[in-house]
Amino acid sequence: MNYYFITGSSSGIGKALVEELVKFPANYVYGMSRTNYMVDDQFEHHLIDLSNVDDVKGFSFPEFKQAEQIILVNNAGTLGDITHLGKQSDENIIDSIMVNLSSAAVLMNKFLKTYAAYTCRKCILNISSGAADSPYDGWANYCSAKAALNMYTRVVHEEQKEQKFPCEIYAIAPGVVDTLMQDQIRQVDEQSFSRIDKFRQLKANNELYQAKDVAVKLIEFMEYPEKIPSLISRIKL
Ligand SMILES: NC(=O)c1ccc[n+]([C@@H]2O[C@H](COP(=O)([O-])OP(=O)(O)OC[C@H]3O[C@@H](n4cnc5c(N)ncnc54)[C@H](OP(=O)(O)O)[C@@H]3O)[C@@H](O)[C@H]2O)c1
Repeated sequence: MNYYFITGSSSGIGKALVEELVKFPANYVYGMSRTNYMVDDQFEHHLIDLSNVDDVKGFSFPEFKQAEQIILVNNAGTLGDITHLGKQSDENIIDSIMVNLSSAAVLMNKFLKTYAAYTCRKCILNISSGAADSPYDGWANYCSAKAALNMYTRVVHEEQKEQKFPCEIYAIAPGVVDTLMQDQIRQVDEQSFSRIDKFRQLKANNELYQAKDVAVKLIEFMEYPEKIPSLISRIKL
């Protein structure tokens, strides 16, 4: 069996990933989010608020008697309130870093610890963003968290080279995808985010990727990692 843990399984890319993965009988998927509507024999939902320290600390990965592959997809993400630093609430900064970075780091740590002695294929896929390399105004928490997630990926990649049964790790930016996150971006004003027009244009010109297409590509990458262009890369459809 291939076991997948997908954070942010209730919407957008995460939901599409679950829907595509359960089409194959060899896959079993654990979804992790605050809400869930998915019901499937090959799917189990774990209710978790990734901005809540106790929820994240209290999570533990299950032991498996037999597994072909175990894969963690750190997909959950939030832009939080889009507004310039100096106008943000403390909670917005803390929650955003918690969801986009700290919870992902804690889950990676727990994953690596739980499955260190497992000889099956192990893989972590961090869903990154072009924002990791672009200082978009209004997005300081998000850009910074994604940049740090890329660095975690690079460090863990180095560390795993030394392990007896190493875990693969990659960070992949999905491109601009038609999800609730993009809906939120288009609703802010220019004072909060000066490049809003670019994102409105992408939607108006029908240039957004569809979550299903992105999910199919991510699954192809997880199945054939030799097709992943580099440790930190971006999807091009
Ligand atoms: N869409 C894009 O254009 C784009 C571009 C670059 C990168 N990305 C990245 O792609 C990933 C998926 O984004 P998306 O576009 O699919 O967004 P989305 O449709 O808004 O989905 C976000 C997911 O994250 C979960 N989530 C948010 N806050 C959470 C919390 N506190 N606890 C648990 N789960 C939480 C949500 O679940 P609940 O609300 O049920 O908790 C939801 O399932 C993110 O990492 C995002 O940064 C997206």
